[in-house]
Amino acid sequence: MSRIALKLNGTKLALDALAKLHTNRQHHKLFSTDSQSGRLAGKVALITGAASGIGKAAAIRFIQNGAKVLLADVQDHLGKSIANDLGTNAIFIHCDIANEQEITNVVDYAVTHYGRLDVMYNNAGIAGTLAPTILDLELEGFDQTMAVNVRSMVAGIKHASRVMIPRQAGSIICTASTAAILGGMANHDYAVSKAAVIGLVKSTAAELNQHGIRVNCISPPCITNTIGCKWLQGALGY
Ligand SMILES: NC(=O)c1ccc[n+]([C@@H]2O[C@H](COP(=O)([O-])OP(=O)(O)OC[C@H]3O[C@@H](n4cnc5c(N)ncnc54)[C@H](O)[C@@H]3O)[C@@H](O)[C@H]2O)c1
Repeated sequence: MSRIALKLNGTKLALDALAKLHTNRQHHKLFSTDSQSGRLAGKVALITGAASGIGKAAAIRFIQNGAKVLLADVQDHLGKSIANDLGTNAIFIHCDIANEQEITNVVDYAVTHYGRLDVMYNNAGIAGTLAPTILDLELEGFDQTMAVNVRSMVAGIKHASRVMIPRQAGSIICTASTAAILGGMANHDYAVSKAAVIGLVKSTAAELNQHGIRVNCISPPCITNTIGCKWLQGALGY
């Protein structure tokens, strides 16, 4: 085969591969919440930490896919403005996840307002102490990180399952982190808190599956939004 023919053949193969990739993407869209498939139509979701970052992005996608979303956060002004922008399927509720009663209230609000809770997304979290070494780690700071990043998720799973078990259905999602799996990715209190989230998810998933409730976690890598920027600043020392 001549060089030109070889080149043309190579180009054709590359174009075929691109076309296949495009077809796969189209096919993938059918199954992805990235599309506006409406696959969450009629579902009621509660997302913590929805005034910013990952929680806000999730709220937008959930609504695009037909869900009714309760956005829970401590940033009232921001949360209300986002809910307002998202339209009638979004409601903002103040909720400090470190306070179990406030989690109880927001879960109960979902049931009294919408009659059900289908998805509980325990997403809110903090970067923690940013202590650069184990010697710098103040244990009061460690406790605070665990209260917001772990204890709150225990309460979130507890109260979501309280209203999901009677319906024998539901999906609970928690945001963990790659820092839970790989050492050296973040400050110790944060890494430990996220490793605990993975343990919590495994433990409760094993119990709740008998009630038709799925419990899963998502472990994002470092994203340069609010929390990600704090780590980068900590790592770079400014
Ligand atoms: N950004 C990253 O690089 C990264 C990587 C892995 C995991 N995560 C995790 O993702 C989740 C979301 O973080 P993000 O990156 O979107 O950061 P973010 O700071 O943009 O969002 C966190 C949200 O949680 C809220 N929040 C904090 N404390 C709260 C409390 N006590 N009660 C209620 N709401 C509270 C904040 O107000 C904020 O709106 C966190 O659990 C975080 O640990 C983030």
